[in-house]
Amino acid sequence: MCRAVFLLALTVLVCPAAEALDNGLALKPTMGWLHWERFMCNTDCDKDPNNCISERLYMQMADVMVKEGWKEAGYEYVCIDDCWPSHQRDAKGRLQADPKRFPGGIKKLADYVHSKGLKLGIYADVGKNTCAGYPGSLGYYERERRSAFADWDVDLLKFDGCYMDWKLLEKLHEHVKSTKQTGRSILYSCEWPLYEWPYKQPDYKAIRETCNHWRNFADVYDSWSSIKSILDWTASHQDIIVPSAGPGGWNDPDMLVIGNFGLSHDQQESQMALWAIMAAPLLVSNDLRDICPRSKKLLQNTDIIAINQDPLGKQGLCTIKMDSFEVWERPLSKKRLAIAVLNTQEIGGPRGFFIRAAPGWKICDPQCNVTQILPQYKELGVQTPHTKLVVSVNPSGTTLLTVTPTSDYAGLIL
Ligand code: GLA
Repeated sequence: MCRAVFLLALTVLVCPAAEALDNGLALKPTMGWLHWERFMCNTDCDKDPNNCISERLYMQMADVMVKEGWKEAGYEYVCIDDCWPSHQRDAKGRLQADPKRFPGGIKKLADYVHSKGLKLGIYADVGKNTCAGYPGSLGYYERERRSAFADWDVDLLKFDGCYMDWKLLEKLHEHVKSTKQTGRSILYSCEWPLYEWPYKQPDYKAIRETCNHWRNFADVYDSWSSIKSILDWTASHQDIIVPSAGPGGWNDPDMLVIGNFGLSHDQQESQMALWAIMAAPLLVSNDLRDICPRSKKLLQNTDIIAINQDPLGKQGLCTIKMDSFEVWERPLSKKRLAIAVLNTQEIGGPRGFFIRAAPGWKICDPQCNVTQILPQYKELGVQTPHTKLVVSVNPSGTTLLTVTPTSDYAGLIL
């Protein structure tokens, strides 16, 4: 349910975010590639050497990221998810990469990724085991901090929360904050708010002080129903989660699944547009070595990425649901506004939406310049508060606009 009416939206959006984890990272939402949704826990390198979780996979992704314009578009982190370690710690109790699949070890992989001008992300779990049953870090926080991740020159840690001991939550926050002492800044991508929700509302102030981004809701799947469920959850919890987002710390609605099998092109555009509005980390999980040109173009669309990375750093929100449309709006720097109109009616053809019905349209007073970014780039010219402009939106597709006031609106500005 889109509970936020425009006034509430204003209140939420003008509230400054709480203090962020002070490691100087994620001043804009993180961009990169993460293996999980597409490659999952495929460890069978004998049968499937091209797609198994091995150093080769990350090296190939790093190569493609440089060669095929991903790095240039801003995608920077190459991230390992679950299933990379050996089932046994080494003699000193340290986590170690599976020797068969990572013969060079993580340090060498990090060096390789760094030599390409990219960064390496790794995965661990704050509990006894990872979600897929590999060794967890419970009881080893300090050791992991000193040795494994810092010594290997890893740049990001996705810290999952399966099998977590809730009594240790505070200790966990202390541990993460103290990582600065190693002298190496690691970007923290945390997952425990997701596991906390069924018991209690997470303390977002503490989370923001501990993590650079955090998951709140279930894993994304390669399907439109999964994307819809993430949007619904976000809209119905936005008054709680949106104020906590800002430079240094972001809500993470999970990976982009664009370029895989389950979404139509309109649905891929919806995911990209809404992830930009939500100031979400853009962590792509697909096979960059084999992706259709249209999906690649969408993921590398500089206008959408600019909305996602806007320096104002405010997360947008759902401002109205009406007539099987959802309007999501995000305030941008220079008093601009991004408006995404999602057509949730999954029957029939394209439907028209009177753009002046978007609550944020108020900023178009006395005049504004409108640019359509999706589905096609189009200058829509100078408009007024009473415009009759109607945008066309495909079923389960999104029309994305930016609105630039031509002079200051006298009233409240998002
Ligand atoms: C959980 C996380 C996923 C992924 C898997 C790995 O389900 O939410 O993103 O990391 O664990 O096992």
